[in-house]
Amino acid sequence: MEKHVQAQVQHDSIKNPDKYWGDFASLLHWDQPYSKVLTHNAMAPPTDTYHWFKNGKLNTCFNAVDRHVLSGRGKQVAIYYDSPLNNEKRQLTYQELLDQVQTCAGVIASHGLKKGDTVLIYMPMVPEALISMLACARLGVTHSVVFGGFAPLEIQKRINDSKPKLIIGGSCGIEVNKIIPYKEMLDKAIDMSAHKPAHRIIFQRDAGRAVLDPSRGDLDWNDEMQRIRLAGKQFKDYVPVESNHPLYILYTSGTTGLPKGVVRDNGGHATQTLATMKNLFGARPGEVVFCASDVGWVVGHSFICYGPLLLGCSTVLYEGKPVGTPDAGAFFRILEEYKVSTWYTAPTALRAIRRVDPDGNFSAKYDLHHLRGLYLAGERSDTGTIAHFRHIIGGKPVVDNYWSTESGSPITGACQGLENAHGAREEPIAIRHGSAGMPMPGYDVRVLSDPEDDGSGYKFHELGPSQFGNIVLKLPLPPSALTTLWNNSKGFHKSYLDQFPGWFSTGDAGIVDEDGYVHVMSRTDDIMQVAGHRLSTGSVEQILAEHPAISECCVVPLSDKLKGQIPMGLVVLKSGVTQKEEDIVKETVHMVRQNLGAIANYNQTHIIRRLPKTRSGKILRRTIRDIIAGKSLENSKLVVPATIEDATVLNELEDVMNRLGLVGNDGEAGKLDDTVKAKL
Ligand code: COA
Repeated sequence: MEKHVQAQVQHDSIKNPDKYWGDFASLLHWDQPYSKVLTHNAMAPPTDTYHWFKNGKLNTCFNAVDRHVLSGRGKQVAIYYDSPLNNEKRQLTYQELLDQVQTCAGVIASHGLKKGDTVLIYMPMVPEALISMLACARLGVTHSVVFGGFAPLEIQKRINDSKPKLIIGGSCGIEVNKIIPYKEMLDKAIDMSAHKPAHRIIFQRDAGRAVLDPSRGDLDWNDEMQRIRLAGKQFKDYVPVESNHPLYILYTSGTTGLPKGVVRDNGGHATQTLATMKNLFGARPGEVVFCASDVGWVVGHSFICYGPLLLGCSTVLYEGKPVGTPDAGAFFRILEEYKVSTWYTAPTALRAIRRVDPDGNFSAKYDLHHLRGLYLAGERSDTGTIAHFRHIIGGKPVVDNYWSTESGSPITGACQGLENAHGAREEPIAIRHGSAGMPMPGYDVRVLSDPEDDGSGYKFHELGPSQFGNIVLKLPLPPSALTTLWNNSKGFHKSYLDQFPGWFSTGDAGIVDEDGYVHVMSRTDDIMQVAGHRLSTGSVEQILAEHPAISECCVVPLSDKLKGQIPMGLVVLKSGVTQKEEDIVKETVHMVRQNLGAIANYNQTHIIRRLPKTRSGKILRRTIRDIIAGKSLENSKLVVPATIEDATVLNELEDVMNRLGLVGNDGEAGKLDDTVKAKL
């Protein structure tokens, strides 16, 4: 059978990466040309075995902003800022953006920061967040954006690991019916942190102004920008950096409570992000992109900030919710008002809209004729949501795509922008419900069996079509993928490369079907997707363990109709605890909100007598999840691990879970499509 064009392009990109990525890299401005697109040195340590664009130097900010001003796009809007939460709209042209970025870079440089230093950005969805990111990139300073929903403990972990010389923050975030005191959270995080950055530049918002304390290094954003303008110290030049110089660190939940600092380079990221804009979205310069994520997530980095700007598009920065700001038509108003052609969001946001507006009455009020496609990521998309919104947007494609902070770009999807040799658009692959599409160019996606010890070491093998197993990527990873973990190359090997030598372990499980469509079904580790946010059970457990009455705890995800997954805590109390159980429960819920953030959606702690454990003391999380999913000793579906310390705990746990009404919840985000289920 003839290969579909997407499969053919993907195949060519793997066979001849130099040609494939070289074509996209040539669209960028390089201050020093690279000597080779992909260099392979088998003798080098795994983090350096593959090197993209060796010896090349470029600047991501120049490519995302200056390049477009120089080519005549100065008057085009670069950022449409729309905040129903702050009742504010602003537009910045490329020329205005350049001016702001040069000024902000001047501010950062004036505090002695230079290439190789780091800046932590903790800001709400305001243009100043993007300006700060681009200003760092201009200087070769590595930024680390922390999602505004994270509370002090999580911020502190990121400060301690990335060791920023400077923090840029907002005074507050604005939620539907409350103001989030960002500056206070930053203060608490810095108090807890061993590393103390010298300065904090705070962007004051009238909705919640912060008290600035110069003795602690607090500075006001506007004063700083004004100081640089008056002194004429804008950073008009830019610093060309090596292709593999880190553009940013973005922390992502690991299986332990400590987040992993994913390192993204400049050259590979710019090249592949540009390629994704063209291939996946079929976007063209001058068009408008609306990505309803948050700039604190990888999707926000790629499709609110860097992707649209690298291509010369206008990006919509939306500070609002899918519902309640003011109604379920909010996203559709944006689509009409800014003539959006590419729309990106998370399935959970669509489910929230559908719940309020099941008949599409709100969306029907708006003209969506500029829209070409809707793209979904952040968690598994469910068939019902996709079908509903395909109808709402007039039959245009709704394209699920699967990726991660680590990959930095979609691993699978249905490309809407592939062109033939004459520049005409090729027909995209058909959307297959339950699947997030076929591998994108650069990704060699396979499914492997679990490694098993055959006496001479751990062995694994590749599984055939529709066989369920571990989803892996064949090395080399494409240019946008992480190069290492910040300050933790050992952790990089351990987390991603050691389990299947020669392959990158995604931590996801699923199948590749007979036609090459990838179906991602579950995680192989303890990561949850809560309302489109990636969180680890470990980070919640770490907080619960701090409660003085708790001796042991375990957090497992439950499936939730709106949010995909939500965490649930099972805790065992220390002997002799006399505190009322209901108070302990309330306190744990409060602690998670205060330390991790309300975004964890943590609202249930259950006190139990004991947890199932191995003889070496490891809590058997999988077994707990199996019991909740309905596997039991009685129906003979529960596999009792050979290493269990005391199997009688299982009956006890089954009883408790039944009593709590939790049995039957499979804990998975999204449901399998029936056609896929039938194949398994
Ligand atoms: N800063 C501070 N707090 C935040 C926050 C932020 N940026 N984002 C969310 N929160 C708070 C919320 O106010 C809420 O607080 P509450 O418990 O006091 O009410 C809590 O965290 C839980 O938030 P969330 O799970 O987002 O629930 P919600 O009811 O506010 O909104 C959705 C539900 C589905 C509308 C929302 O989760 C959503 O739009 N999700 C999509 C996320 C997304 O796009 N992710 C990127 C994937 S690519």
